[in-house]
Amino acid sequence: MSVLIKNGRIVTAAEDYIADLFIEEDKISAIGKNLPHKADKVIDATGKLVFPGGVDPHVHLEMPFMGTFSSDDYETGTRAALFGGTTTVIDFILQTQGDSLRNALKTWQKKSEGKAIGDYSYHMAVTDFNESVAKEVVEFIEEEGITSFKTFMAYKGALMIDDGQMVKLMKVVKEHGGLVTVHATNGDIIDGLIAKHLSEGKTAPLYHYLSQPEVTEAEASARFLDMLNYTGCTGYIVHMTCEGALNAVRLATRRNQKVFVETCPQYLLVDASVYEEDFEGAKWVMSPPIREKKDQAALWSGLQQNLVNVIGTDHCPFTWEQKLLGKDDFSKIPNGHPAIEHRMELIYSEGVDKGRISLNKFVEVNCTNPAKIFGMYPRKGTIAIGADADVVVFDPEKKHTISKDSHHMNADYSSYEGWEVTGKTETVLLRGNVAIEDGKCHLKPGSGQFIKRGKTSYTV
Ligand code: URP
Ligand code: ZN
Ligand code: ZN
Repeated sequence: MSVLIKNGRIVTAAEDYIADLFIEEDKISAIGKNLPHKADKVIDATGKLVFPGGVDPHVHLEMPFMGTFSSDDYETGTRAALFGGTTTVIDFILQTQGDSLRNALKTWQKKSEGKAIGDYSYHMAVTDFNESVAKEVVEFIEEEGITSFKTFMAYKGALMIDDGQMVKLMKVVKEHGGLVTVHATNGDIIDGLIAKHLSEGKTAPLYHYLSQPEVTEAEASARFLDMLNYTGCTGYIVHMTCEGALNAVRLATRRNQKVFVETCPQYLLVDASVYEEDFEGAKWVMSPPIREKKDQAALWSGLQQNLVNVIGTDHCPFTWEQKLLGKDDFSKIPNGHPAIEHRMELIYSEGVDKGRISLNKFVEVNCTNPAKIFGMYPRKGTIAIGADADVVVFDPEKKHTISKDSHHMNADYSSYEGWEVTGKTETVLLRGNVAIEDGKCHLKPGSGQFIKRGKTSYTV
């Protein structure tokens, strides 16, 4: 199969030009003006943007969490991702406390193999560190192509590790060239506030927000940065939401420290007033919670200043029935929201179209940086000869409205219901195969490949 994409505006993290793109089998094989190549399929991209398939490094598919499972599995989740122009996702394997990383890997392989439609990889969440886990960490880096290890500084009793375990993990990961990622919030302070609010009869979603004040994230981020600095390990803070945490990163730069930072569309676009509407606020119950307008401004500045490097989604969807588990107690509302599908369209519309970030920055934070940081570049995350032909043809003018009635995620509500966005994913190729065209998905479960990852290739 060969594909010729003609006359598109090709955008990478560094370039922006009009040209043709020729794809043979699964790779990009030529780029140039008026290419003479004959192809099995020709796509006219005149007036359209042509950029690399998105890489979403933060998704939770069929994840056991808070007494239930996130409602998208590998089939529905990766299909919805493709509809939005994301061709590769990185999901989180969760170690069960007391059990091995190997057993957790087997569980996740069963969830994904034969089901994924788009490409995928795994981060390994270490929830219980000990000497035998240390050996498995080395095997995962050297043999499995799983080079990033997720840690939680919250969710005590299920996922959280203490600082002693964190430092030991960092030492072994550093020695073998991997990366430690973190959910950086202070679990003990949060648990205390949850208990206080519940004892006062405060059970609405608003109290989820009030149980996780900014200081819980700022403190944990600073502590994580100190532990990275002490061990020399490379680190990545997931889903950063606030000015306080970003300022901890700013401060760390003064001792010449570099940490990778991810934020998510919801923290850039929405403010905490969403929690005022009684149980409707459950649509935005996630951890950390949505913050203030001043935090949105800080995060946009962080992107512009290269302090924030990646936009992921933290896609962790639940149906409304699942959200109702917390009808009488906010601490039982499953944390997370459906997001995998609209990352690129929301950030194009609110970021590029509204003049907050450039087109190159859009590609950098949605495609190139996650591929570089997580060891998939240049196979993924760019348009270049020899790269996987994961390509998005995007109509920058087309307006459309986000709704549960038209999205492809397995969730019966959309947090963004009724939002009008400018710019729409039109055609998506996954390794040279037409994945999305004419509003339909043309790939079957099992089309997605597991991507073995290498070491971070991001240089500043
Ligand atoms: O609320 C969230 N973010 N749910 C998913 C788990 C996590 O903390 O990332
Ligand atoms: Zn988290
Ligand atoms: Zn998450």
